[in-house]
Amino acid sequence: MSDDPGLRLHRPDDILREAVIDAARDRLTLDPPPLDGARTPDDLAAAAGTMITGSGLGGERALRLFTDVIAPACLSMDHPRYLAFVPNSASEAATAFDMLVSASNIYGGSWMEGAGAVHAENAALRWLADRAGLPDGAGGTFVSGGSIANLSALAAARHRWRRRGGAASGSPVVVLSRGAHSSIGSALELLDLEPFLVPDDDCGRLRPAELDPATLSGIESLGERVAAVVATAGTTNTGSVDDLDAVGDLAARCGAWFHVDAAYGGGALCSTSRRHLFDGIERADSITIDPHKWLFAPYDCAAVLYREPEEARRTFTQHAEYLEAVNDGEWNPSDYAPHLSRRARGLPFWFSLVVHGTDAYAAAVDRTIEVTELAAARVRASEHLELVMEPELSVLLVRRPGWTPQRYRDHCERLARDQVGFVVPTTWRGETVLRLCVVNPVTTPDDVTAVLPPPP
Ligand SMILES: Cc1ncc(COP(=O)(O)O)c(C=O)c1O
Repeated sequence: MSDDPGLRLHRPDDILREAVIDAARDRLTLDPPPLDGARTPDDLAAAAGTMITGSGLGGERALRLFTDVIAPACLSMDHPRYLAFVPNSASEAATAFDMLVSASNIYGGSWMEGAGAVHAENAALRWLADRAGLPDGAGGTFVSGGSIANLSALAAARHRWRRRGGAASGSPVVVLSRGAHSSIGSALELLDLEPFLVPDDDCGRLRPAELDPATLSGIESLGERVAAVVATAGTTNTGSVDDLDAVGDLAARCGAWFHVDAAYGGGALCSTSRRHLFDGIERADSITIDPHKWLFAPYDCAAVLYREPEEARRTFTQHAEYLEAVNDGEWNPSDYAPHLSRRARGLPFWFSLVVHGTDAYAAAVDRTIEVTELAAARVRASEHLELVMEPELSVLLVRRPGWTPQRYRDHCERLARDQVGFVVPTTWRGETVLRLCVVNPVTTPDDVTAVLPPPP
């Protein structure tokens, strides 16, 4: 091949290509992967040295930089004792296939450019919509995370509210509970929507039947200003599920958009033991579900589903002279969220679903719920620990009576330093407690026990 420097980037390099594939294969076969963890910025800068140079470091050094310095400074979210925040436990099929998706460099924004990928992604979206009980016409797209999915849904809600003349009644308001995820608050801020915050119950659930008369009449007095009512199916802090049917009733009474944030909890829609908690989700105008949380897809993969996708199309379709060729009436994922170019990030999820079948998904989710229950039983039986509340899904809040917030932090730091596991404390009603979230079917009750505060 020509030695034109302009072609250097695109000259095939068998050695580098194979080395990258080997490194990926090595990572995929680690069982379990090392937990690893963050380093300080100074430490990393010293270890990595100058990385980006005029003439390049060459493939071998660059790859070593990643495997020896960069990757070990990232926590393995798929480690069975990574139980903080919401972990990730992508199936091997999904992760391996993600490499092929990357190698194929598919443009997933439009039917014209990525019809095959869009067809496959839509099948995966349809499966999610069926789990929720949304009607045939429902659809949406995969975005980078639950935050963008929630933002997209609320942008569509605001659009419908405006289109229906809501502005005549004043500025738009969204009803949400204290248990709603921070990304809902952030979306309201971005969209200039005013929050109307209502209390949650002892387990962090929004249960309209338990709202006090003053709150209910506060909502009523907003009249047509209510653009949306938000429910959470699987609150992040406690893993509890709002009374979706009753929140749906509330939204209907307000004539408002009903959004259900099931970013974390959505996995349990395919659980045999917990599906009943989601009754009422079928009434939603939009739903967020993150397969990168509890449906075994690698980052990043979040679904936003709309009961009436037309509403989202009105909100998001971009118009430009050069884009009219794409706006041809076909299903374009770019019409359903604030994005145009997009990676076909639903494909690894789709592939794993096709490979393993949906029964395996139900069994995997049920297993994580069982492990949570077994771990909860151990906490209940222990003399030095208490359950803060009974788990509804797969989040456990554990109290170690007598511990200060600093003792919880020290405990978590020691676990991470000794590479035992990764957990972080949270607060519940002002009290610091330990929070664990089980979404990895490989996690055992012993893994959970290993990160709990030890007996005195
Ligand atoms: C209920 C809920 N909604 C939204 C989000 C935000 O999702 P993401 O981190 O994918 O943006 C989370 C994250 O944990 C969540 O638990």
